[in-house]
Order: sequence, then structure tokens, then C-alpha cells
Amino acid sequence: MNIEFVPAGAPAGPDAAIAVLLPAATPLTGAAAALDAAAGGALTRAIAGSRFTGAKGQTLDILAPHGLEAARITLVGAPEPLDADAVETAAAHAYQAVKTSGVSTLVIALPGLGPDLAAAAALGVRLASYRFDRYRTTEKAEKKPSVHTVRIEVDDVAAASGADAALAGLAEAILLARDLVSEPANILYPEEFARRVRTLTRLGLEVEILGEKEMAALGMGALLGVGQGSVRETQLAVIQWKGAADPAAAPVAFVGKGVCFDTGGISLKPPEGMEEMITDMGGAAAVTGTMYALAARKAKVNAVGILGLVENMPDGNAQRPGDVVKTMSGQTVEVINTDAEGRLVLADALWYCQDRFKPKFMIDLATLTGAIIVALGKDIAGLYSNNEELSEKLLAASKASGDPLWRMPLPPQYEKLIESQVADMKNVGPRHGGSISAALFIQRFVNGLPWAHLDIAPTAWKPNSTVPTIPSGATGYGVRLLDRLVAASYED
Ligand code: BES
Ligand code: MN
Ligand code: ZN
Repeated sequence: MNIEFVPAGAPAGPDAAIAVLLPAATPLTGAAAALDAAAGGALTRAIAGSRFTGAKGQTLDILAPHGLEAARITLVGAPEPLDADAVETAAAHAYQAVKTSGVSTLVIALPGLGPDLAAAAALGVRLASYRFDRYRTTEKAEKKPSVHTVRIEVDDVAAASGADAALAGLAEAILLARDLVSEPANILYPEEFARRVRTLTRLGLEVEILGEKEMAALGMGALLGVGQGSVRETQLAVIQWKGAADPAAAPVAFVGKGVCFDTGGISLKPPEGMEEMITDMGGAAAVTGTMYALAARKAKVNAVGILGLVENMPDGNAQRPGDVVKTMSGQTVEVINTDAEGRLVLADALWYCQDRFKPKFMIDLATLTGAIIVALGKDIAGLYSNNEELSEKLLAASKASGDPLWRMPLPPQYEKLIESQVADMKNVGPRHGGSISAALFIQRFVNGLPWAHLDIAPTAWKPNSTVPTIPSGATGYGVRLLDRLVAASYED
């Protein structure tokens, strides 16, 4: 998408739609009043003849406005206060309203609004216009987006461009996470994921990749057990951003489940919907996107991202139900169900993280359980934490970023659900409370530091999104949340 900031009032052109953000249907003021006058009252008449009230998300198209060089005017409901969130959403609604209308250009009339709101509009358009169309060689013409350029009218072009540059990295980071989640598993397997992470050194990130040999030497029996049925080599990616004034200051740490495909292993999943398990690396994608966002805006923080990259496949060498594996922590696990593989990945990735980096806190993100979807539905991710302060900060960042989160309990009386007769624990409890027992399992690999676990199985992938900034498919959930968390509380 080509996004330009332009001075207000330039003619839009016969191939353009002009979007006007309106807090209410009447009275028309500013840009709307000027357009209405130029079009001989067409806006007033169109509003009078419709149910448009200026409510959030409402749009009204006025085609071929007389007296104006524009294909259409699109009124977009954007109730007061017109803050950054409201402008972002309204700009996304404007884009959605005209994207396949046939116009090549969308002009968003924002005169009088400051550079930060102009940048918010650009962010809204960037997020709304995301498409994963890399593998389409043909597409019906009427389904293809026609809009290629978005021109945002501003008072101060240079200031708007500056504010946009500061925010553009966040959009790129979210789109990167979406791309990673969208990629099929024959393309994005652990080594390919690792290769893409390595390219991020161009942003100043430090990247190390550990292979199976190194992980075996470290004793990562749980993570390696998950991958042993796959012909693809398991990888552990370590991403570092050193932006704090003191390069030796303890980092914040993010750990992602990166199961590039989850068949369930020998505890094979049913075929129905299994293709969605290409998204089972959504936690690793969110961590990658977060590290990208921090580096892109040169955040004044030291941060570490750890990705456990693995494929869960059944074959002659696959791990069996009943196998006992030894984790890097020294604790042993009886693998009752090979489909509960995410917690095995996290057990070793979390232990490695705290052992090597002694971070201020660790937050893991994982598409971990179907049970959290039963509990919270498809819009909200689950938060588990051993620390009140970190929880509060995450919930505040959730409100501010729009990535929804709800805190869940870690009840000690449920520890018995994962007791094993042969090992220190087993990797599944009963069906009831399945997301909680998974979190309790992971907590056993946290050695006394503040920790939070985000079960993002509900939110990483939205087949039917109604949010204008999130096209259906991969959401990029978590990138904005964690970027916000760091910005709010953990920078110099
Ligand atoms: N990757 C799945 C969880 C999942 C389900 C993610 C739906 C996204 C959408 C995870 O590895 C898994 O298979 N979990 C099992 C755990 C069970 C075997 C205890 C589940 O939720 O059924
Ligand atoms: Mn699984
Ligand atoms: Zn999984």
C-alpha cells in the first residue's frame, strides 16, 4: 500500500474516493461542509435519505458527486473523542468500505488534525489492507482490491511523515507476525523460520540459532522429543535487542511456542480442521514481531526473544505416549499425550531463557490449548501469572493496545492433576480445566522470577474477523500488546 500525506484540498481525481470522518450526521462542519457545498448539498441530501447517524463503523457512499472531481465520497462514522484509536479504526473502516469498489485511490480528509492522528490513520490503513496473497496466481477481478494508494490530507506534511515514520515499524512488525502465521508448513518449517529470523539482524537485532546437537548438549529432552518424529530439524532461535543505556542491565524476555505444524504426533488429531495447525507457531510469530517492533523504534530496553521451533509429526521415530523425557531443568515428564506438545517446547525454552539471561521477567506466548477457547471464546486470550505487578501491567497494556486479555487462576489444588506414577509430572491432566493444568505445568519450569503465560490459541487466527484493522486470518496478536507493555514500563 502506497501511503502519502498531502495538503488538504487538492482535487482527488476521477479515480478516487474521498473519505470523510464524521462524529455525527449533523451538522456538517469543516471538510464535510466544504465538500457538501462543492457538491451542491449532496452530502446533506444523502444523509437525510439514509440511516447514517455517524455511529462507529457506519459508512455511507455518495457516488458521482456533481461538481467534484471524485468517483465517490464515503462518509465514515467516527464518534468523539476523535483520539488516535478512533482515527485508526475509522481509517480502517474507510479502507474496508472502498477497497474493492473500483477506485484506485482513497483520500482521507483529516484537515485540522495533528500529525499523531494522521499517523494513526496510516496505521489503520496498513493493518486493514493486509492480505496474504503470495500463493494466488489467479483471482476474480472483482475480489481483488482496487485501492493502491491512500492519500491522507494533513495541515503539516513533514510533521505527519515524521509521526508516521515512528509508527510504521509497529505496522511492519504486526504484518511480519501475520505473514509467519499465514505461511503453510511446507514452506515455513523450523529451519526456514530461523532463516527469516536471521534476516532481522539488518535492524540491529542479534540472532543465534541452536540446532539439535546443541540442544541435546544442553539437555533439552522435552523440546527435542516433540521434534523427533519430524524430518525437519528442531531449532531454538535466540534474538537479542540491546537498547538500554547499560548493555549489562537485566533484559525483559519473551518466549514463543513455534510449532510449525501440529499433527498431534502419535496422539494424532482428527483431520477436520487440522490445516489450521499451520498457525501453531503464533506465539513464536508474536515474539518475533515484538522484537522487530522494539528494534524498529530503537526502544531503550534490553530484550530477549526465544523461539522453540519444531514440527510435531508421527513417524517411526516419533515419541510415544508413555515415553518419559528429561527436561533441561532436570525434571522428568511422562508424555501421556503427544498432542500436548506446546508445554514440552516451553518447558525447555523457558528454562534456557532464565538460566542464560536472568531476565527481569519472562512472558511466554503459545497457541497452547483448545480448552482456553472453550473458556474465553475466540476474541480473548488467557493470562496466567505468578506476579500481580506484571499481570496488572499486562492488563493495562491490553486495554491500551486493543489485544484482549483475561486473567485466569493458577490454583495450587490442581497441581495433583498432573502428578505421574513414573515421573515428576505428566504432560496432561483431565479435560476439565485443560488450559489451567497446562499453565500449572509450565509454571514448574519457572524458577522464582516474575512470569506470565499468554494462551493465545483463541486469538492468533481469526477465520471470520469483524475488526476493521484485522482482515480474516492471521491477526498478529501480541505484538502490539508487548510493545505497549515495554513502552509503558520498562524503558530507560
Ligand atoms: N496447538 C494445540 C492447541 C490449539 C487448539 C491451538 C486449537 C489452536 C487452536 C495444542 O498443541 C493441543 O493440541 N492441545 C491439546 C491439549 C490436549 C491434548 C491436552 C488440546 O487443546 O486439545
Ligand atoms: Mn498439540
Ligand atoms: Zn500445538
